[in-house]
Amino acid sequence: MRHVLVISFGGQYAHLISRRVRDLGTYSEVVPYFRAGRERVLEADAVILSGGPSSVYQEGAPTIPEELLKLRPTLGICYGFQLMAKLLGGEVKRGKGEYGPTKVRVQDGPLFEGWGEEELVWMSHSDYVSSPPPGFRVTAWSENGYVAAFQHESLPLYGVQFHPEVSHTRKGRKLLSNFLKLSKAPKNWSNEEMMKVVMEETRKQVKGCRHVLAAVSGGVDSTVAALVVKRVSEVPFTAVLVNHGLMRKGEPEQAVNMLKNLGIDVVYVDASSEFLKELKGVKDCEEKRKVIGRKFIEVFSRAVEGVDFDCLVQGTLYPDVIESGAEPGADRIKSHHNVAGLPENLQARLVEPLRFLYKDEVRRLGLALGLPREVVMRHPFPGPGLAVRIMGEVTPEKLEVVREASHVVEEELKRAGVYEDVWQAFAAVGDDKWVGVKGDARAEGYLVTVRIVVSEDAMTADWYRADHELLDRMAKRISSMDKVTMVTYAVTTKPPSTIEPC
Ligand code: XMP
Repeated sequence: MRHVLVISFGGQYAHLISRRVRDLGTYSEVVPYFRAGRERVLEADAVILSGGPSSVYQEGAPTIPEELLKLRPTLGICYGFQLMAKLLGGEVKRGKGEYGPTKVRVQDGPLFEGWGEEELVWMSHSDYVSSPPPGFRVTAWSENGYVAAFQHESLPLYGVQFHPEVSHTRKGRKLLSNFLKLSKAPKNWSNEEMMKVVMEETRKQVKGCRHVLAAVSGGVDSTVAALVVKRVSEVPFTAVLVNHGLMRKGEPEQAVNMLKNLGIDVVYVDASSEFLKELKGVKDCEEKRKVIGRKFIEVFSRAVEGVDFDCLVQGTLYPDVIESGAEPGADRIKSHHNVAGLPENLQARLVEPLRFLYKDEVRRLGLALGLPREVVMRHPFPGPGLAVRIMGEVTPEKLEVVREASHVVEEELKRAGVYEDVWQAFAAVGDDKWVGVKGDARAEGYLVTVRIVVSEDAMTADWYRADHELLDRMAKRISSMDKVTMVTYAVTTKPPSTIEPC
């Protein structure tokens, strides 16, 4: 498919750019810098160089061959802008840095069509372009006197120091749309086109399958993936839902019913007590993940023993496909992947209908396929479930507290009409106790922390500025629970915290 190619110089920066391009109606792909070559660039209509955490002069700093810069219309962003400057003969130096909202004065240039003379942008850099390469002119200056943008006098080469992909850059979307127009990038990514491509691709992937197996959780990804396969193929289909006992309140029953209503019969395995037994005495977070992962594989394998399947549906999303090659040196903070995932030795061909899509696109696809909005907009939920919202050992008592309290948090958000405004919202509990008074008597109960975050992709997150009355309603309901005497609200961003406590 025709596309804009985003060359990634560091993890998630590139995906945000790619999502914005798709939102503007042009299909985009991401390639890590070390896999970007001449052929890959020539397949694209235009190229965007992403930001990244490095400095261009650092030893081993990510780079690409200079020739890749002149094959297609190209826009460099932040690190990509500095790299462009360096590769084409300009100069980059270490400066005082600019972080957060910054004013820029726009000089001219088609990239800034629709911008005022002075606009607010989002900066995050310490290096700066001290001298643009020969043949380039400065098209915007920052309020601190740094080059904020440049363009080539005759070639379609552009660069910006700030981040047009983040919403804090008020006219960022307009700038990206100007670049797409200047590059004559095709308009080829509407909902209808996306649906068509996904269906066609899945049809190809399922071709030749005798019996398709799907592990479902009731979450949006596995549900949409299963539904797409059902829509494009008549092949025998078995869906399996393993309940590890760590799901949200009412979730297993709702999931099975919802799938049934969609015409998907589910083999439901309740292994709650088996998992709880296995988790007894396990306090360490990573160890918990490992235990759950191992057990999941065991239970799942048992459940499908009699099923003669040769294809397996997975709800893998685009960022995972790109990231699974893992960038050199990339650090895993928590071992997320493959927790409550499937055995690696299943002799089955993978069918991944969503492998080209971002989460928001999966949601749009889900709605277009007729899934209830409640299912489509449900917050992401970690594979190991409530176990990562419990600090220390997973006991039936703490599990009950966290499940009920999380339910209160979600329900109150829905009542206030703000559930869809946030990325995730839940309660967490550890072993700390707080002395309280209940019914005139001294009572020692759990300290429950409510965490509500806004985020674009879970890589960074901000705590949600919740209305105080809403927090009050949550706190009253949660602290009236039998074993709870204190409710706190988490007000730390990610980084330095992570979203889940464990
Ligand atoms: P953290 O806590 O690292 O979480 O900020 C980032 C996102 O990942 C989810 N998460 C997990 N998902 N298995 C998963 O499938 C895991 O072990 C896991 N741990 C965290 C988390 O809910 C958030 O959306």
